Amino acid sequence: MHTIIEPFRIKMTEALPITTRAHREKQLKAAHYNVFLLNAQDITIDMLTDSGTGAMSASQWAAMMIGDESYAGSLSWQKFEQTVREITGFTHIFPTHQGRAAERILAATRLKPGDIVPNNSHFDTTRANIEYVGAQALDLLTQQGQDLYSDKMFKGNMDIEALEKLIKSKRKNIPFCMITVTNNTGGGQPVSMANMKAIKAVLKKHNIPLVIDCCRYAENAYFIKQYEKGYADKSLLQIAREMFALADGTTMSAKKDGLANIGGFFACNSDEWADDFRNLLILTEGFPTYGGLAGRDLEAIAVGLKEALEFDYQHYRHATVQYMASRLIERKIPIVRPAGGHAVFLNAGGFCPHLSPADFPGIGVVNSLYVEGGIRCVELGSVMFGRVGKDGKEMPGPRELVRLAFPRRVYTQSHFDYVIEVLDTVWRKRQQIAPVRITKQAPFLRHFTAHFEEKKTAARRRIA
Ligand code: F0G
Repeated sequence: MHTIIEPFRIKMTEALPITTRAHREKQLKAAHYNVFLLNAQDITIDMLTDSGTGAMSASQWAAMMIGDESYAGSLSWQKFEQTVREITGFTHIFPTHQGRAAERILAATRLKPGDIVPNNSHFDTTRANIEYVGAQALDLLTQQGQDLYSDKMFKGNMDIEALEKLIKSKRKNIPFCMITVTNNTGGGQPVSMANMKAIKAVLKKHNIPLVIDCCRYAENAYFIKQYEKGYADKSLLQIAREMFALADGTTMSAKKDGLANIGGFFACNSDEWADDFRNLLILTEGFPTYGGLAGRDLEAIAVGLKEALEFDYQHYRHATVQYMASRLIERKIPIVRPAGGHAVFLNAGGFCPHLSPADFPGIGVVNSLYVEGGIRCVELGSVMFGRVGKDGKEMPGPRELVRLAFPRRVYTQSHFDYVIEVLDTVWRKRQQIAPVRITKQAPFLRHFTAHFEEKKTAARRRIA
């Protein structure tokens, strides 16, 4: 059969808010033109993130009912630990309330000012946690990965030569190296096993530990199975194990491939790393057998981690992203190619050639999609990755992308058809997308809370 179906049926429904354009315009204005500040009941299709927004299975809900809420050593913890160990093989496992809690403790315990942490591309919270302790988060994506439109597979790979060069001059400043699978900020692109092996080989020579940011490890394993030579006959679990065997530690947000609404973990082999991590975990998250989570959350994650590795689930999930991507390509809408594992990324720079990075074209596209059809998505451009320089001037980010993330097991094909129609409408009217400026911002992770207003350009002033 050619039709790839959802490998589940729906037992419970949740009504979607259907709103008017006038209502959405009013709400967006009240939210200072920042969709993070909108209320969820004003959004029809929420593609802001694939993080914690998935639908849990009946098995997960059933597991939650037997959650053991003992403060220490609960049965739910044991199931969680066993599952994480089965998949990752690591000796020490610590639950955290989400991925960034694991990143924060890792950064606080292993980094000092002046240190450098290379990665293919750091996610914003990873970067922020590294920078917060005075270290540098360095992206070493391959040239190919930086080419938005190349259809090559494994564009999440790290540039091995650049890594070697960095180590040659800065070995003393590199306490560990990271690799993010899949590479969220670079378009949800996968990392090949061959690349991970090459990274490991380089690091091993210099005795530098490797930490995998494994939020989307199962999606990455699916790409390896489907597109990397030698893996077609391996199960996703076998591939995941092979991946983790190359690393010394991992940070995870269970809100992605844990198929849970909250949670995360850190895992490693080093006793010293584990001791330091545990001490800070107790101080800020909770006892090491719950780490800020309820017993029922640990149960849901233990089941979800396994469900994410089911081939039929991944096959359907990747098909949904492909479905939307191919229809946008047909319409010549500029998207990052090939389609990533958890999202379609629009190139807002290509969408709005009339705007410069200082006009924040990504925000213009995001806000237009909301006003046009009640769709919420997120800018990954000069607001998220740009900076205000010492001279007070804006320094743009490397790219102007907009991410439409796919919550797991939530939307059906007709929802995606609707999104395609809205995108098509906005694409036809793209010349009308206005430049914006920031009127208020925080020093870290400013995209979450920034306030914007439309710039009054000469043309607009004339119309007014
Ligand atoms: N690493 C990556 C690659 C991520 O995508 C995220 C979260 C994190 C770490 C942090 O995990 O949210 O549990 O603290 N990404 C979400 C997103 C927020 O929308 O892409 P967290």
